[in-house]
Amino acid sequence: MKYHIVTYGCQMNVHESEKIAGILQTAGYKTVSPLEEADIIVFNTCCIRENAENHAFGNIGALKKLKRQKKELIVAVGGCMVQEEGKAGILKEKFPFIDILFGTHNLNELGALIERKRAQKKAVISVPEERAETEDGILPVRTSYPNAWVNITYGCNNFCTYCIVPYVRGRERSRKKEEILAEVRELVKNGYKEITLLGQNVNSYRDGEVSFPTLLDEIASIEGKFRLRFMTSHPKDFSAELVSVMKKHDKICNLLHLPAQSGSDRILQLMNRRYTREKYLSGVALLKREIPDAEITTDLIVGFPTETEAEFEETLSLVKEAGFSSAFTFIYSPRTGTKAAEMEGQIPEEVSKDRIARLIALVNAQTREKSAGYVGKRVEILCEDYDEKKGLYLGRDERGRMGYFESDKNPIGEFVTLEITRANGISLYGKTV
Ligand code: 5AD
Ligand code: SF4
Repeated sequence: MKYHIVTYGCQMNVHESEKIAGILQTAGYKTVSPLEEADIIVFNTCCIRENAENHAFGNIGALKKLKRQKKELIVAVGGCMVQEEGKAGILKEKFPFIDILFGTHNLNELGALIERKRAQKKAVISVPEERAETEDGILPVRTSYPNAWVNITYGCNNFCTYCIVPYVRGRERSRKKEEILAEVRELVKNGYKEITLLGQNVNSYRDGEVSFPTLLDEIASIEGKFRLRFMTSHPKDFSAELVSVMKKHDKICNLLHLPAQSGSDRILQLMNRRYTREKYLSGVALLKREIPDAEITTDLIVGFPTETEAEFEETLSLVKEAGFSSAFTFIYSPRTGTKAAEMEGQIPEEVSKDRIARLIALVNAQTREKSAGYVGKRVEILCEDYDEKKGLYLGRDERGRMGYFESDKNPIGEFVTLEITRANGISLYGKTV
């Protein structure tokens, strides 16, 4: 039997889909197939912005015909969107052909839900309010060798006023340190060369006395050649202790993803981010002082309610001052149930579109400029794939740049040193040395 998973959203969801694949394989769906040939199709949805939701709605709707032709096909919809208040009902009503609805809080029930669905005709819905346990113990089918994702926390307690995550993912829960260490040791033993620790706010990880820097220190002390990444860091919890652990270990990549969201203090306060522009920049300065070759990437939102042109320009100036090497940029999207959705002064779409275009232009120019600085230098990349179109192998350097190169043998999963001959945006081109 064959399966097909459609994933929306962030790395957290990509890893969750690997766990869903693990559950499907245990349930007897052994191979991945194109959508049309699958016996079960699972949508792993995201609700962080409206366009991610619309995308999922469109794709699920498009299945109606296939489902009519293939009666035995099982359609399952899970992920954050299902966990959103009232959404399970809407999905069921709009798409009566859905067989299984499951929330992020009951991923580990999916196997049982599939069995129930196979045994009965009617749809199976299971969307608990709050999760009692974590997903630990589900063996993922990893799809991103030589990288492996490892959850360290689930959920979020921060309640940034624009964000729906705390409502759909529930309160923050940290995994036990020993469990995480055992998982990473096993991955390294099995040949994974890059471990990415995942959490909505990794800096607030806590297991008894163990904080995030301690956890990171212990993971980086595991023997073997591998790289260690982590995301996402919240600027309010960013600490000197974390910088010193990053500095201590070569294994920890000199790249920090530190979402700033805005460069304006008034907007940051309305967002409930609990740091100022000054505090943010002092964190950046500390990192650059201690690790001069470290780079910083970020997330930025434009068009938050009441944002003025001058406040938007403060975001532009932050991009320059912090020297971001790249950024994920978003137009503010009102999410039902969040505080910001109720705020007066929602910004017209054309204003937000104009702002994001200017922001993207600035970020891209800065990315190009920084990448150009790599020409003539050597970088170590971890080869992860082959690009058929370009006829080149590719991999990332520790700062997240993509390096492309020619090779007679297949170096996927190996560290390769490149001498950079050309740069284009976030991509570097080079020769092996
Ligand atoms: N509108 C726009 N962007 C958002 N993000 C989270 N919620 C929203 C929203 N309602 C962005 C933030 C966050 C990233 C994962 O998504 O920048 O860091
Ligand atoms: Fe959302 Fe803020 Fe939590 Fe990030 S830290 S998941 S933006 S509430």
